[in-house]
Parts: sequence; structure tokens; C-alpha cells
Amino acid sequence: MKRLQQLLALSVFTLSFGMAAFSLAADSPAAESKLRERDKVCTLCHNESWPTPVLSIYQTKMGVQGDPRTPGCRDCHGPSENHLKTPVNQVDVYFGPIKPGALQSDSWPKTPSSAEARNGACLACHKGTARTRWDGSQHQVNEVACTNCHNIHAPQQTVLNRKTQTQVCFTCHREQRADSLKISTHPIKEGKVVCSDCHNPHGSSGPSLVKKNTINETCYTCHAERRGPFLFEHQPVVENCANCHLPHGSNLSPMLVSRAPFLCQSCHDGQHSSESPIGRNAASNQGGFTGVGPSNQATGRACLNCHSVIHGSNSPNGGYLQR
Ligand code: HEC
Ligand code: HEC
Ligand code: HEC
Ligand code: HEC
Ligand code: HEC
Ligand code: HEC
Ligand code: HEC
Ligand code: HEC
Ligand code: HEC
Ligand code: HEC
Repeated sequence: MKRLQQLLALSVFTLSFGMAAFSLAADSPAAESKLRERDKVCTLCHNESWPTPVLSIYQTKMGVQGDPRTPGCRDCHGPSENHLKTPVNQVDVYFGPIKPGALQSDSWPKTPSSAEARNGACLACHKGTARTRWDGSQHQVNEVACTNCHNIHAPQQTVLNRKTQTQVCFTCHREQRADSLKISTHPIKEGKVVCSDCHNPHGSSGPSLVKKNTINETCYTCHAERRGPFLFEHQPVVENCANCHLPHGSNLSPMLVSRAPFLCQSCHDGQHSSESPIGRNAASNQGGFTGVGPSNQATGRACLNCHSVIHGSNSPNGGYLQR
């Protein structure tokens, strides 16, 4: 209640005093840049004394003085005529708090505008480039807003810093967080590989918002040696790395879906063909090299001992994925 009284007192004060100050400022020679001039209608009240750090936006790329492309308060929040008349009326586009809990009165908490309205304000300037596929993307369809990831007023955006980006994604994607802590992972927790190395959160032409058109193209950006071309290819590798690898992490090194021979047997029926000179059962769980090795079973299971170049071979004798 005390907070509300303060706010109301502030509104009345700034309404009367503020308007005078505004006309004064408008008349005075352009000591300040055009942006600040334009914003004065709002910063009369939302200034240094405001309980949340509103003016820190002037320290960001969206507060560059003298850059005509820079958005003013009302480019994002709307003209907000009703709010200007009586501050308890909400602005046209309310994105949510800068610091949750900092503003409190009987009229709080306030409901943010629809995701569509919030995103519309941003897309007015940012529709192109990385965001050409925003419409229809998994985030857009599920009403995730630009400002669920971008904290606009802060001098440093959490999501744009490679050291802190995952914190933002993990607030909603808990499964990927758990995966990133498993035994075999990309160096995600070390901050060397981040979500946006593989994903475009703004939309993509590939599956699962991957950056490139396919999962494999995305993997090749760093694992170029896996692209080939190979003299002898392994079909599932060409098709999709995720047939065998879990990109966010696994307890089976190196990030495998399952261990050989089970991994292999999910596609191969577990037996070499009957005319195989090395024996029909070499690839089965039973093992099968009669008389070879101390443990037939262990040999039979170790598909990779013989098929050692699982991603494809360039050796002239490298058929059947051998060196
Ligand atoms: C006369 C002083 C005054 C002016 C001018 C003013 N505001 Fe406010 N504003 C307030 C007060 C007081 C509150 C808190 C109202 C409440 O607690 O209900 C507020 C709240 C807000 C909020 C929080 C959400 C909401 O809608 O209540 C936003 C965002 C906001 N103002 C933006 C702006 C913008 C943008 C402008 C310029 C178009 C502006 N304000 C102009 C006094 C002002
Ligand atoms: C680029 C778009 C953009 C511009 C420009 C912008 N805002 Fe905001 N504003 C936001 C977003 C988004 C939030 C939600 C918090 C956040 O993301 O930082 C917000 C939050 C606020 C709040 C917080 C209310 C609360 O509950 O804490 C106030 C007040 C506010 N803005 C006022 C202003 C004023 C005044 C200006 C001009 C100096 C301005 N904004 C310029 C996008 C913008
Ligand atoms: C009036 C146009 C305009 C509006 C509206 C606008 N922006 Fe921007 N935005 C810009 C400009 C200009 C830049 C600076 C671009 C540059 O420096 O290349 C920018 C930069 C950015 C950046 C990069 C910041 C950085 O530090 O690299 C992000 C992220 C961003 N905007 C998000 C948003 C979001 C989210 C909204 C909606 C809340 C929004 N913008 C609304 C014009 C706008
Ligand atoms: C799911 C989280 C998320 C959402 C939602 C999101 N962004 Fe981003 N945004 C990011 C990340 C992560 C980056 C950094 C991308 C990079 O480094 O490749 C980024 C970068 C940007 C940039 C700066 C670089 C560039 O691409 O120009 C702008 C501008 C931007 N976003 C605007 C927007 C707008 C506008 C929306 C809403 C339509 C939006 N973002 C929605 C996560 C998000
Ligand atoms: C090395 C590349 C890579 C990195 C880094 C990465 N992803 Fe993925 N992500 C993928 C691929 C590939 C898929 C598709 C997997 C499939 O189809 O089996 C995917 C799928 C997803 C999915 C859909 C559900 C699922 O698991 O299939 C979500 C959500 C996701 N990623 C979020 C994240 C988040 C959050 C981060 C950052 C912590 C992240 N990803 C980092 C490559 C990556
Ligand atoms: C506010 C919550 C939220 C945040 C923050 C968020 N996401 Fe999402 N994300 C969702 C929702 C909801 C979906 C759609 C439902 C689903 O697939 O889980 C989704 C879907 C995805 C998908 C596609 C999943 C698929 O099955 O195709 C990927 C990839 C993804 N997000 C990556 C990211 C990345 C990377 C970040 C951080 C830059 C991020 N998300 C931040 C809520 C969020
Ligand atoms: C941004 C670069 C980048 C992209 C994109 C990328 N990786 Fe990686 N990958 C790495 C790095 C870095 C390592 C760790 C290398 C090391 O530790 O020596 C790694 C390691 C691996 C490993 C071995 C892990 C281990 O425990 O030895 C596998 C398997 C792997 N990546 C698969 C993939 C797949 C599948 C994709 C595509 C979905 C992919 N990577 C996309 C950078 C990337
Ligand atoms: C048929 C299953 C399968 C497919 C598909 C597959 N891999 Fe692998 N990958 C493996 C196995 C098994 C290992 C472990 C090899 C070993 O221990 O000798 C491995 C190891 C790796 C390693 C780490 C060890 C190394 O050799 O550097 C990387 C990186 C890797 N794979 C990337 C990829 C990429 C990128 C793709 C897609 C182009 C892919 N893999 C597709 C089965 C597969
Ligand atoms: C002792 C070495 C050895 C081991 C262990 C082995 N293979 Fe083979 N595999 C071969 C050779 C040599 C060929 C070439 C053709 C032939 O002799 O039948 C072959 C051929 C294949 C072929 C293609 C032709 C066919 O006969 O179907 C597949 C698929 C295959 N192996 C899968 C597996 C799997 C899965 C495992 C593990 C469960 C495995 N192999 C274990 C040596 C081995
Ligand atoms: C996602 C399914 C899948 C998985 C998992 C898989 N393969 Fe294959 N593999 C295939 C397909 C499809 C072919 C090509 C068609 C054929 O010859 O049966 C193939 C072919 C082969 C060949 C014959 C290559 C040639 O030169 O003719 C060998 C050997 C082989 N795979 C071994 C393995 C081993 C070892 C593993 C486990 C590490 C494995 N595969 C995992 C689908 C798979």
C-alpha cells in the first residue's frame, strides 16, 4: 500500500512537473541527442530514480545515441496514450518486469501482452536475416516470445554471451540440461560449445531447429572430416549422425545411443550372411569363430574390432568398413 501511495504521488508529481519539464526540454537547443529527446515523454518518470534500471538500455546496441535506427521507448512499448494520461493504465505492449518484484502496488502483478503483440514489436525491425523462418518455428508456434530469451534493458544480454547462454535455454529445456551433465558430452558446461552452435532458435529449414538444412550439415561445420566423400560409405552415417549419436550427451562414450553390438544389431540382424568366410555367427550375440580367440563370445560382440572405420573407409581394401 505504501508503495502504491509512493507511485501515485510520483505520478501526480511528474505529471504536472514533468509536462512542464518536457516542453522546456523540447524548446531548448538540442543539447541531448534526438533519441533521448524522443524518449523524454517516458523518461520524465522512468528515470534514474525509478526502482528498476530502465535507463540502462542506453548502454546497449539498442540505445545508441545519434543512430537513426535505434528504437525509442515507444517503438517497443507502443504510443501508450492511456498510460501517459493515467499511469495505472498499462502501456500498449507490456513485456514483463525488468527486475521481478521490484515494482509493487495493488495493481501488480500485471499480465504481459500476448506473445504475438510482444513479438510484433520486435519483428517490426528484426524480421529479416536469421529470423526469416520465425513464423511457423517451434518457438513461435508454442508462443515463446523474443523476450523470453532476450533481456532488453540489461547492459549485458544473458543469451548473447556464450558463457551464460545455456542458463536461458535450460530454464525451459531441462532434459538437455541433464544430458549435458552426462559422462560423454560436447563441452557444453565448459562453454566451448553452445546451443546456438547447432541451433537457430529463431527458426530453421532443418529438423529440430538445427542451424543448417540437415543434422549432418550442422555436424560437418565442426566435424568436417566426417563429410567424406568415402570410397566405401556406411549408409546410416550419410543419412543422419543422430542414428548413433546423442548430440546433447550420453553415458556411453562417445555420445552413443547404445553400445556395440546392440547399436549395430538395432539395424543388422546379428548374423553375417551364410556364405561369409569368417563365419555366419561372427556378428551374433553367440559369437562364432570356431577355435579363434580366448573368448569367442567377446570376439563376436566386438564388431568394431573388425569394422574399425565405422564412418566410412577410403582404403582400397576398406570394403565392409575395414582399414
Ligand atoms: C507520469 C509519469 C509516467 C510517465 C510519463 C510514464 N510512465 Fe510508465 N509508469 C508510471 C507509473 C507510476 C507506473 C506504475 C503504475 C502501477 O503501478 O500501476 C508505470 C508503469 C510502467 C510500466 C510497467 C507496466 C505497466 O504498463 O504498468 C511500463 C512498461 C511503463 N510504465 C512504460 C512507460 C513508457 C514506455 C512510457 C512512455 C510512453 C511511460 N511509461 C510514461 C509512470 C509514468
Ligand atoms: C527494444 C525494445 C524496448 C525499448 C526500446 C524499451 N523497452 Fe522497456 N522493456 C522492454 C522489454 C522487453 C521489457 C521487459 C524486461 C526486459 O526484457 O528487460 C521492458 C520493460 C520495461 C519496464 C519494466 C516494468 C517492470 O515491471 O519492471 C519499464 C518501466 C520500461 N520497459 C520502460 C521503458 C522506457 C522508459 C524506455 C525508453 C527509455 C523503454 N522501456 C525502452 C523493451 C523495450
Ligand atoms: C525501431 C527498430 C527496433 C526495434 C523495434 C527493436 N530493435 Fe533490436 N535492434 C535494433 C537496432 C538498430 C539494433 C542494433 C543493430 C546493430 O548494431 O547492428 C538492434 C539490436 C538488437 C539485438 C542485438 C544486440 C546486441 O547486443 O548485439 C537484439 C538481440 C535485439 N535487437 C532484439 C530486439 C528485441 C527482442 C526487440 C523487441 C523487444 C527489438 N530488438 C526491437 C532496432 C530495433
Ligand atoms: C529461444 C531463445 C530465443 C528467442 C525466442 C529469440 N532469440 Fe534472438 N537470439 C537468441 C540467441 C541464442 C542469439 C545468438 C545467436 C547466435 O549467436 O548465433 C540471438 C540473437 C539475436 C539477435 C542478434 C543477432 C542476429 O541474429 O541478428 C537479434 C537481433 C535477435 N536475436 C532478435 C530476436 C527477435 C526479434 C526475436 C523474436 C522474434 C528473437 N530474437 C527470439 C535466442 C533467442
Ligand atoms: C552439437 C550440436 C548440438 C548442440 C550443441 C545442441 N543441440 Fe540440441 N539438438 C541437436 C540435434 C542434432 C538435434 C536433433 C536430434 C535428433 O533428431 O535425434 C537436437 C534436438 C534438440 C531438441 C529437441 C528434442 C530432442 O532432444 O531431440 C531440443 C529441445 C534441443 N536440441 C535443445 C538444445 C539446447 C537447449 C542446447 C544447449 C544446451 C542444445 N540443444 C545444444 C544438436 C545440438
Ligand atoms: C520460455 C521457454 C523456452 C526457452 C527459454 C527456450 N525454449 Fe526452446 N522450446 C520451448 C518450447 C515450448 C518448445 C516447443 C516444444 C518442445 O519441443 O519442447 C521449444 C522447442 C525447441 C527446439 C525444437 C524442438 C523440436 O522438437 O523440434 C529447440 C532445438 C529449442 N527449443 C532450442 C532452444 C534453445 C537453443 C534455447 C536457448 C537459446 C531455447 N530453446 C530456449 C521453450 C523454450
Ligand atoms: C561447434 C562445433 C561442433 C559442432 C557443430 C558439432 N560438434 Fe561434435 N564436437 C565438438 C567438440 C569441440 C568436441 C570435443 C572434441 C574433444 O574433446 O577433443 C566434439 C566431440 C564430438 C564427439 C566425440 C565425443 C567424445 O566423447 O569423444 C562426437 C561423437 C561428436 N562430437 C558428434 C557430433 C555430432 C553428431 C554433431 C552434429 C549433431 C556434432 N558433433 C556437431 C564440436 C562440435
Ligand atoms: C552407425 C553408427 C554411427 C553413425 C551413424 C555415426 N557414428 Fe560417429 N561413431 C560411431 C561409433 C561406434 C564411434 C566410436 C568409434 C570407436 O570407438 O572407434 C563413433 C565415434 C565418433 C566420434 C569420436 C571419435 C572420433 O573418431 O573422432 C565423432 C566425432 C563422431 N563419431 C562423429 C560422427 C558424425 C559427425 C557423424 C555423422 C556424419 C557420425 N559420427 C555418425 C558410430 C556412428
Ligand atoms: C572377426 C572380424 C569381424 C567381426 C568381429 C564382425 N565382423 Fe562383420 N564382417 C567381417 C568381414 C571380414 C566381413 C566381410 C564379408 C564377409 O566375410 O561376410 C563382414 C561383413 C559384415 C557385414 C556386411 C555383409 C554381411 O555379411 O552381412 C555386416 C552388416 C557386418 N559384417 C556386421 C557386423 C556386426 C554387426 C558385427 C558385430 C555384432 C560384426 N559384423 C562383427 C568381419 C567381422
Ligand atoms: C541405423 C541403422 C544402422 C546401424 C545402427 C548400423 N548400421 Fe551398418 N549398415 C546399415 C545399412 C542400411 C547398411 C547398408 C545396407 C546393407 O549392406 O545392409 C549398412 C552396412 C554395413 C556394413 C557393410 C558395409 C559394406 O561395405 O558393404 C557393415 C560392415 C556394417 N554396416 C557394420 C555396422 C556396424 C559394425 C555397426 C555398429 C557400430 C552398424 N553397422 C550400425 C545400417 C546400420
